[in-house]
Amino acid sequence: MSLSTADVQRDNTAVREQAAERLIDGSLRRSYDSSVDVDWDAPQDPDLFYVPPETISLYGTPLWESMSHRERVELSRQEAANTLSRAVWFENTLNQGLLRAMLHQDPTSRNVHYALTELGDETRHMIMFGRGVSAIGALPYRLSTLEAMAVQLFPFFYRGLFLYVAALCGEELIDDMQRNYLHHPDLQPIMAQIMRIHVTEEARHIRYAREGVRRRVQRASWWERQFVATANGAAGFVLRRLTYDKKVYARCGLDVNEAMRQARANEQVNARRREAFESLYHFLDENGLLNAVSRFPWRRFGFLG
Ligand SMILES: [Fe+2]
Ligand SMILES: [Fe+2]
Repeated sequence: MSLSTADVQRDNTAVREQAAERLIDGSLRRSYDSSVDVDWDAPQDPDLFYVPPETISLYGTPLWESMSHRERVELSRQEAANTLSRAVWFENTLNQGLLRAMLHQDPTSRNVHYALTELGDETRHMIMFGRGVSAIGALPYRLSTLEAMAVQLFPFFYRGLFLYVAALCGEELIDDMQRNYLHHPDLQPIMAQIMRIHVTEEARHIRYAREGVRRRVQRASWWERQFVATANGAAGFVLRRLTYDKKVYARCGLDVNEAMRQARANEQVNARRREAFESLYHFLDENGLLNAVSRFPWRRFGFLG
């Protein structure tokens, strides 16, 4: 007996609602509020790193070798502040995408209720990241007017299948890094606390986005699949641009051009980037969401070997 389109649609909705119910359940059991779950005033050890040294853009380069331990710690503080600042605007764009999609959705569905729960998680993360920047004694890295205008365009493209894929591109790479280095012995406890909260809550967001992709890909038109399979390569460009920031090196008093040159050529960090992308790469591939056009930037910007 073959199923009609209406049957498939009904099954799809049932699967979606069950998945949302499980995620809401998980959110009720394990959610955090950094105002009480992070010890903001705990003293910080001046010799501990704010991001694991292995993930620092200059790690292992001649410039790194020439720096004192405290200078390396300062670089880690600036890179941490930079990542936290970027995470604030990225989550802002995702929330905008979710809110816009919601205007077309049924407000009684559990799927919408989970999306609202996720929005709540993200707004708490934005507070946590902003507060994190001040707590580690750094200044935020603000977007320039031009950058803010460019970022403002992101949510315009976040719709249907692409919303979930964009979420995964941002969330999975940072999640991989945080998950792997959470227990690093040289990490400041305050950063480990922030990462732990984020990893726990993002695990649900990633599950939601992955389930969203699997579901949407079945009913997406050929055009939509082609668009997403082609356009996700742009994330390779954006993520690569976010890896290095001249302002970070300037704040550390380093020779900016030399630091940029050495960071770009840093094979250790490139290898780490490829490792972090691997699981997402296979997921996109399995779902037919990669093609020659998108593979090109992913490879060109160091996410594929
Ligand atoms: Fe988040
Ligand atoms: Fe998230």
